[in-house]
Amino acid sequence: MDLTEAMRTMNACRYYRSEPVPDALVLEALDAARWAPSGSNKQPVSFVVVKDAGKRRALHDLYQPIWDGVMQKYASGEIAQAFKPGFLQHVDHFAKHLAEVPVMIVVCVAFKLITAVDANLARQTVSGGASIYPAVQNLMLAARNAGLGTALTTLLCVAEPEVKKVLDIPGDIGTAAMITLGWPAKPFPRELHRKPLADLVYLDRYGARLARG
Ligand SMILES: Cc1cc2nc3c(=O)[nH]c(=O)nc-3n(C[C@H](O)[C@H](O)[C@H](O)COP(=O)(O)O)c2cc1C
Repeated sequence: MDLTEAMRTMNACRYYRSEPVPDALVLEALDAARWAPSGSNKQPVSFVVVKDAGKRRALHDLYQPIWDGVMQKYASGEIAQAFKPGFLQHVDHFAKHLAEVPVMIVVCVAFKLITAVDANLARQTVSGGASIYPAVQNLMLAARNAGLGTALTTLLCVAEPEVKKVLDIPGDIGTAAMITLGWPAKPFPRELHRKPLADLVYLDRYGARLARG
């Protein structure tokens, strides 16, 4: 499919059909991931494809209480809700049915192959992620090209030690995300809801708009 169309319609898929995904399609998506850029081309990312039902259940059992904690914070007002109506129900459905998604892909990272050049600034470090998430996006776009739905989540990183036990991930490797993958139960959107270009592009000076709104 056209690349731009894939980008504009690759939503967070939270409803899946139960049919298995052919291994060849999973591998095709993973093959796209390996072409992503990384700092000094060190390629720190690897993937654990989780198809085993018991392991998917174990990952669900780790994910659910973390999500429940987030839900409680929304319900109590501790975190402000700025979502479209129904959003939380979709995310909640996704959490409850996580173990039924046929494929989960845990994104692993070799920290010794990553340099966080911004680590000494007085703010959160983000630059290390630049060697990880391009591969994730490649994977998800390739899946979209094959008609497969994906959702990117990072909540399981909270339970990284337990996730590592479930999947035998070695000590020097971390987890950066978990991607669900399967046949979508709902059609892809015609177009995602995103900010207009004018709200995020500036010329020469932050705040000086380049594009018209
Ligand atoms: C870092 C990150 C973490 C996310 N975590 C979750 C999650 O825990 N549960 C979930 O259902 N979606 C999760 N998402 C998906 C986002 O909610 C989704 O990308 C966003 O709402 C836009 O959705 P759309 O592409 O369908 O428009 C996550 C996305 C990102 C990038």
